[in-house]
Amino acid sequence: MTDVTNLDGAITLVTGAGRGIGQGIAQVLSERGAIIAVSDLDGAAAEVAADALNAAGRTAAAFQGDTTSQDSMDALAAAVLDEFGRIDVLVCNAGVIGAPGYHERTDHTEADWDATFGVNVKGFVHTANSVAPHMRDRRAGKIVNIASHGGRKPRGARAVLGNIQAPYSVSKAAVIQWTHLLAIELAPHNINVNAVCPGTLWTPMWEAIAENRKASDPELAEFTPREIFEMSVKDRMPMGREQTPRDIGKAVAFLVSDDASEITGQALNVNGGAVMN
Ligand SMILES: NC(=O)c1ccc[n+]([C@@H]2O[C@H](COP(=O)([O-])OP(=O)(O)OC[C@H]3O[C@@H](n4cnc5c(N)ncnc54)[C@H](O)[C@@H]3O)[C@@H](O)[C@H]2O)c1
Repeated sequence: MTDVTNLDGAITLVTGAGRGIGQGIAQVLSERGAIIAVSDLDGAAAEVAADALNAAGRTAAAFQGDTTSQDSMDALAAAVLDEFGRIDVLVCNAGVIGAPGYHERTDHTEADWDATFGVNVKGFVHTANSVAPHMRDRRAGKIVNIASHGGRKPRGARAVLGNIQAPYSVSKAAVIQWTHLLAIELAPHNINVNAVCPGTLWTPMWEAIAENRKASDPELAEFTPREIFEMSVKDRMPMGREQTPRDIGKAVAFLVSDDASEITGQALNVNGGAVMN
C-alpha cells in the first residue's frame, strides 16, 4: 500500500461483496492493485463477482461466509489466509435493512431488531474478532466499517414507533461507536480503523426501502420504486444526485491508503452533503 492510486498487492477481504456497495468497493480497490477476497452469505453471488474481477484482469477469489456466526467468520479468515497468506485490509460491509418481509411492513418488529443487530453490529464484531489478531501479530492493517448517514441523523419527524427504519438507524449508530472503540484498541498495534457513511444508493437494499414506502404510503402508490428513490435523492441531497457503489469504493481506497495513515476512528460521510455531522 503506498498511495490512493496504488494499493498494489494489498490482500483485501470485503464482506457482502457479491452485489451492491460491497461489489463496487471490490471493483475500485482491485483496479488500484488490491487482491480481493470476495465474501458473501450468497456464495454463488460471490463467485460471479470474483469471476468478473478476474475476467477484467484483476486478482480475486470467492468465499462464502455468514457474518452472524463467529465460527463462520473464523473459517473465512482461515480460508483467506490459506489462499493469500495474509490480510492487509478488511472491509466490513455486509448489512441488512431489516428482517425478511421488511418491504411490506409498516412498522418494525422484534425480528427487524434481531436482524439488524445480528448482521450490522454483531456481524462486524465477529469479522473483526476473526481478522484483527492476525493484523495485530503483523503490526499492520486497515479496517473500514460501512455505516450509514442514517446512523447519524434521525429521519423525518417520526418517532421510533411508526418508523420502520428505527432498528436499522440505531444499528448503524452502533457501527460508528464500534469503530471508535476498535480504533482505540488497535491504534497501538499500527492498525487504522475508520467508517464510511454512505448516503443514498440504488442497490437491492434501497429497492426494498422504496417498495416499503410504496406499500405504506397511499400517496406513493402510483410511483415505481425507482421514482420513489429519485424523489428521495432530490429531497435530501444538496448536490442533487445519488451516490454509487464506486463512490463508496473511492472513499474506502483513500482510507486504506498510506495517505490516510494518521486518520483513525473517523466516520466519513459520502452523501452529497445530505447529513453534515
Ligand atoms: N444502499 C444504500 O443506500 C446504503 C446507504 C447507507 C449504507 N448502506 C450500507 O452499505 C452496506 C451494503 O449495502 P447495499 O446497499 O449494497 O446492500 P445489498 O442488500 O444490496 O447487499 C448486501 C450484501 O450483503 C450480503 N449479506 C447480507 N447478510 C449477510 C451475512 N449475514 N453475511 C454475509 N453477507 C451478508 C448480501 O448477500 C448482499 O450481497 C450495508 O452495510 C448497508 O447498510 C447502504
